[in-house]
Amino acid sequence: MAGFNVHSVLVTGANRGIGLELVKQFLEKSNPPEWVFATCRDPEGQRAQQLKNLVSRHPNLVIVVLEATDPASIKAAAARVEEHLKGSGLNLLINNAGIVRLNTLESETPENMSLVYATSVKGPLLVNQQQPSLP
Ligand SMILES: NC(=O)c1ccc[n+]([C@@H]2O[C@H](COP(=O)([O-])OP(=O)(O)OC[C@H]3O[C@@H](n4cnc5c(N)ncnc54)[C@H](OP(=O)(O)O)[C@@H]3O)[C@@H](O)[C@H]2O)c1
Repeated sequence: MAGFNVHSVLVTGANRGIGLELVKQFLEKSNPPEWVFATCRDPEGQRAQQLKNLVSRHPNLVIVVLEATDPASIKAAAARVEEHLKGSGLNLLINNAGIVRLNTLESETPENMSLVYATSVKGPLLVNQQQPSLP
């Protein structure tokens, strides 16, 4: 990411896995973004501990609550981000939050398929629609 410079970036599903690693990579750049917004569902929970450890070392890191299947949560997250950006817009949005449910023809259920669709398809759409646009 050495030559990849952004003023602000938001990564959804950033408390673990690929999302957490992306956040770390942005923070460790020689010229890190002014703002790195890392969303997770439960910032107070044990699964957010690694993110919280990073906050203590990186004042440009902001943890934002975001549940991808809840439009109200996404709207609240956008408002929180805007408090920091103050109209300057978000440079980069990484819609990383998502789920995979490996199933067979026999074990798959409509409920499971709906959850995957709500999280990994509708979620990114709603996040895109709420993102603070560039001026
Ligand atoms: N790893 C792969 O090989 C691979 C391959 C193809 C695609 N992908 C996609 O790449 C993305 C990251 O993969 P990964 O391996 O890092 O996944 P992961 O370790 O399972 O992490 C998924 C992240 O998404 C969050 N998340 C799940 N459901 C959510 C919801 N309803 N609202 C908000 N956040 C939610 C999780 O939060 P919680 O901790 O709260 O559950 C977690 O932070 C996923 O979208 C995955 O489908 C991964």
